[in-house]
Amino acid sequence: MAASANNPLLIEVKDLQTYFFLHEGTVRAVDGVSFNIYEGRSLGVIGESGCGKSVTAQSMMRIVPSPPGREVGGSILMYLRDGNGAAEVVDVLKLPAGGPKMRSIRGQQIGMIFQEPMTSLSPLHTIGDQISENILIHEKGVTKKEARERTIEMLGRVGIPRPQRLVDAYPHQLSGGMRQRAMIAMALICGPRLLIGDEPTTALDVTIEAQILDLIKKLQADLGMALMYISHDLAVVGEMSDEIMVMYLGQVMEHSTTDEIFDNPLHPYTVALWRSIPTIEGKLERLVPISGSLPSPFAVLPGCRFFSRCDRRIPGVCDAAPPPLKEVVPGHLVRCFLYQ
Ligand SMILES: Nc1ncnc2c1ncn2[C@@H]1O[C@H](COP(=O)(O)OP(=O)(O)OP(=O)(O)O)[C@@H](O)[C@H]1O
Ligand SMILES: [Mg+2]
Repeated sequence: MAASANNPLLIEVKDLQTYFFLHEGTVRAVDGVSFNIYEGRSLGVIGESGCGKSVTAQSMMRIVPSPPGREVGGSILMYLRDGNGAAEVVDVLKLPAGGPKMRSIRGQQIGMIFQEPMTSLSPLHTIGDQISENILIHEKGVTKKEARERTIEMLGRVGIPRPQRLVDAYPHQLSGGMRQRAMIAMALICGPRLLIGDEPTTALDVTIEAQILDLIKKLQADLGMALMYISHDLAVVGEMSDEIMVMYLGQVMEHSTTDEIFDNPLHPYTVALWRSIPTIEGKLERLVPISGSLPSPFAVLPGCRFFSRCDRRIPGVCDAAPPPLKEVVPGHLVRCFLYQ
């Protein structure tokens, strides 16, 4: 792992494999992914559409749609610390996805915000009821009145104006930016130690996006949370993260500190991604396509997964065996034969 922090370990993902078993074949959506998340630190995850960013996060939350999906290998160790700092280590892959332990991890240990707020907010209930509900489920002995007060306080904290009134609003009565703030309040209400943002600003316009990014950073600092920030937008990931993991077709291609990844990108895929940053100021809707087409998600490739699109490929080497992920500079991991 890229040595990134002296902070205590929060989550250790080791050789995670999450596959989808479809009629057409097996999609190895996540295929041997390893990384650590440290308390209070932020990890950015970047890569083109379909590379496994969301499925990685869904596996950590145990919300992969199953069937057809299943975590078939690896472990996700969660370090649950008590007040004295002693850790109980739980492999979340060994827990029943719908069981009480996993439900308490979702919410109290990990909160998640999604690209589209309507996927996690119900249109039938007020935002206040939905947020309070989370408190009442997770925390024993809290009264409805206390839960409502805490909800109002949190809505204010995420920048919702007049929270005493908007606590009784339905999601459709809020603007997109306000809905996203309500979803952040819902993710944070039980004080998670890790916040996962899966492209939480992609659906917003640039001004609102900037406000939400500032809000997430401020809340992260105030609450001392770790952050896993998933995006296809390099500028956003760079701004939000202490370190960056670059994914391609279910694998980690490169992983290092944000400064190192920006100053010294090594993997030809990362270099190609960097080249795809538009020079004119503007919101990046999708990464500018890199030459060559993405292999079929069902393909089983004997060599490097980026071979067919790589401008530095070595025939007979890179397509013969899979390159390992190797630490080539201290704290800088690369999966490429050019650096073995
Ligand atoms: N519910 C599902 N059923 C079948 N295949 C799925 C499912 N969810 C994801 N996949 C497949 O798993 C692979 C990884 O998908 P994932 O959603 O993790 O990509 P991503 O990196 O988050 O992409 P994007 O940037 O578009 O969000 C893709 O090939 C995708 O088609
Ligand atoms: Mg995704």
